Amino acid sequence: MKPSEGDEYRGENAAQYERQAAEHDWHGHEILFGLMYDFITPGESLLDIGIGTGLASLRFHRAGLKVSGFDNSPDMLRGCESKCFAGAVVQHDLQDVPFPYESSSFNHVVSLGVLNFFADLAPVFREAARIIKPKGIFGFTIEERKPGQRSRYTIRYTGESDEGAHQFKIAMFRHGDKRVRSLLGSVGFAVLKEHDFLADRYPDQGIDVYLKIYVAQKAASG
Ligand SMILES: C[S@@+](CC[C@H](N)C(=O)[O-])C[C@H]1O[C@@H](n2cnc3c(N)ncnc32)[C@H](O)[C@@H]1O
Repeated sequence: MKPSEGDEYRGENAAQYERQAAEHDWHGHEILFGLMYDFITPGESLLDIGIGTGLASLRFHRAGLKVSGFDNSPDMLRGCESKCFAGAVVQHDLQDVPFPYESSSFNHVVSLGVLNFFADLAPVFREAARIIKPKGIFGFTIEERKPGQRSRYTIRYTGESDEGAHQFKIAMFRHGDKRVRSLLGSVGFAVLKEHDFLADRYPDQGIDVYLKIYVAQKAASG
């Protein structure tokens, strides 16, 4: 382990991410796909925000959708490209808006396990609303802030790089359901489904991370 304990998180390592997803019984991908299944049709297009190694959107590809995605981690993107299923995968930071896509250019947008790293959801929601075609679906996760919980907290995380293992601190953000719904409504989405699930545990830090999936539909017009 490198003696750099306390570094801020700088991105994911693809091999480690895939290994941990398997070891931790991570089923977020199947849950998101299952919740969206009724609303997708083969041949439609899907953008994955924070596509990582493609675990979430691979299922949509298998169901006949044309997948594109972006991520800010070159290593995760290389992991995704090695699976050869996504049509266009680019390096882009989701905090840089507008995203590099035309308005109404995708049937659906997903973002799984990403928005819990961000304090401000509004720019991403606005961009999803701009990019999705009328009646398209935005399926994403956040960590819901329950009564008594802080909106920001930190977890310690062991990450790997070419130079070895590091201990990182990651800032995590929780968002209230009322605020999420109000933001979605303000950009033209109606929530169709929501589902909470235990996503990760950090027993040494006394932290359980529950993510909430929202499946929201863009209005038919506007
Ligand atoms: C927990 S992983 C989830 C990956 C993928 N969505 C999945 O379901 O397997 C979080 C992903 O968000 C990406 N990410 C984090 N911050 C980002 C940013 N500012 N812009 C774009 N992607 C980001 C990370 O590189 C990583 O691939």
